[in-house]
Amino acid sequence: LAGLAQGHQPQVAQAVGTASAAKLTILYGSQTGNAKGVASEYKAFAEAAGLSVELLNMADFKSKRLKDETHLVIVVSTHGEGEAPDDAAELHEFLASKKAPKLQKLKYAVLGLGDSSYEFFCQTAKDFDERLAALGAERLTDRVDCDVDYDGQVTTWRESLTEQLKDELKSANQGQVVAMPGLSLAGQQANHYSKKNPFTAELLTSQKITGRNSVKDIRHIEISLEGSGLSYQAGDALGVWFSNDPKLVDELLNSLNLNGEVQVKVGDEQLSLKDALVDKFELTQSYPTFVKGYAELVQSEALRQLIEDKGVLRDYLANHQIVDIVKAHPGKLDEQQLAALLRPITPRLYSIASSQSEVEDEVHLTVGLVEYENDGQTRQGGASGFLSSRLEEGQAVKVFVESNDNFKLPADPNTPVIMVGPGTGIAPFRAFMQEREAQEAEGKNWLFFGNPNFTQDFLYQTEWQRWVKDGLLNKVSLAFSRDQAEKIYVQHRLLEQGKDVFAWLQQGAHLYVCGDANHMAKDVHDALLKIISAEGGFTAEQAETYLNDLRKAKRYQRDVY
Ligand code: 2AM
Repeated sequence: LAGLAQGHQPQVAQAVGTASAAKLTILYGSQTGNAKGVASEYKAFAEAAGLSVELLNMADFKSKRLKDETHLVIVVSTHGEGEAPDDAAELHEFLASKKAPKLQKLKYAVLGLGDSSYEFFCQTAKDFDERLAALGAERLTDRVDCDVDYDGQVTTWRESLTEQLKDELKSANQGQVVAMPGLSLAGQQANHYSKKNPFTAELLTSQKITGRNSVKDIRHIEISLEGSGLSYQAGDALGVWFSNDPKLVDELLNSLNLNGEVQVKVGDEQLSLKDALVDKFELTQSYPTFVKGYAELVQSEALRQLIEDKGVLRDYLANHQIVDIVKAHPGKLDEQQLAALLRPITPRLYSIASSQSEVEDEVHLTVGLVEYENDGQTRQGGASGFLSSRLEEGQAVKVFVESNDNFKLPADPNTPVIMVGPGTGIAPFRAFMQEREAQEAEGKNWLFFGNPNFTQDFLYQTEWQRWVKDGLLNKVSLAFSRDQAEKIYVQHRLLEQGKDVFAWLQQGAHLYVCGDANHMAKDVHDALLKIISAEGGFTAEQAETYLNDLRKAKRYQRDVY
């Protein structure tokens, strides 16, 4: 969040320690870590304001506890077509069920994170908000549904909420002295690198690992964390800040006839439009608010029409950058108007492909270069283009570690593991294997991997072969989709191996899925249901329950994007 104060110790008021009646519980449901980040920052903020706070992942919150809560804050994201994060699923279901208790003594607030280009924008947050109200709980402040660049909305929300809570908890404490050290965002430890305070790391290696004739361009990236003291665990992600391609910025300036030297205001900062376009604004992922604002400014009927259908708009935005929209719908606006339409650049999260037990103060990534053509111009993804084409070895890249509690190896090294990771989804499983090797884990390991062609796209082939040879990797099931007439995907391999997959699950295996969320993760999920039903002799409903129980037991974990 903007304006995080660094290097201060939390000024938590001792006086509230005893005021158990006035405790605030913050629950988050997070898939990629954003909701967790916002919730943790809110905890620090609320503590700095003198509140006594407990922060919990929803998955670790016993739903029975709900009826005893007095003050509750929920921060939850929504994915794909209105889905709850895996963390939140159980509480979400509980609140909608007949078992949900009356909650008349509860006061609450909900913050949603989502992406407004999706039809079911912030649906999970809406559900929580509506259910809590229906059960008799009282809103402390209105729900806020945040879009992808959520910092500003979060700041406004938390200030209004904290004001409300201070009054609330003061009266709940019936005159107890509650210290209010003000709203400075303390609680952040010195030298703790984060999204807002990233570490400036060095790119060590960037190497294309798909073949010359591949339809894909996938890089193996190595970054040095030396001197940062940063640590991560297998399953965590690395946040990467990037700058836009100066050539893209020039193209945008030219197409709008704007002068890059003109000073514009970005937040509290004053800088040239050109510098702002390179470093501060999102240009490579376009978004509905830009289309809306631009359509109004340049009076474009075609763009106004485009906004009408969210599905059509989303498909269009997926392969049209800001410059493409502007070029296809030319119009006049000035430098400050452009700056006001654009949203801030946000870092990208990449699943880490290494384990520190193997690579120590390095971190490895597997990055697929996003690339498409528009109007004869090649467009590249912001961060993937930066890492693959613009950043040179030895140059600086700003990074931070985003831990992911929902993608962790089993605590017991004897537990078997099934990994499903087609494409760049392979990344965390390379980390898993490095970690299991270091642990000398006895549990069996099984990899499902897929990509277009065996000769071009078998990522880290020699490493997997070595792990097979060494006996660490017990089974490998490969799906090269374009090596034969019909498409073969990882879910087909799962189905073929249904008997064994089910046997491993019955032996306590943990199952992990990483990669494409739009199609692959859903198809794999459906394949798992089929397998469980066929092999376990279950009805469709029982198979759902079986898989749901696996998820609740953290034995079915997903990192999908
Ligand atoms: P394709 O492009 O040949 O269709 C990794 O990106 C692999 O995912 C590719 O081989 C790609 O195959 C494949 N893929 C595409 N759609 C998929 C789906 N619905 N399920 C699983 N894999 C898929």
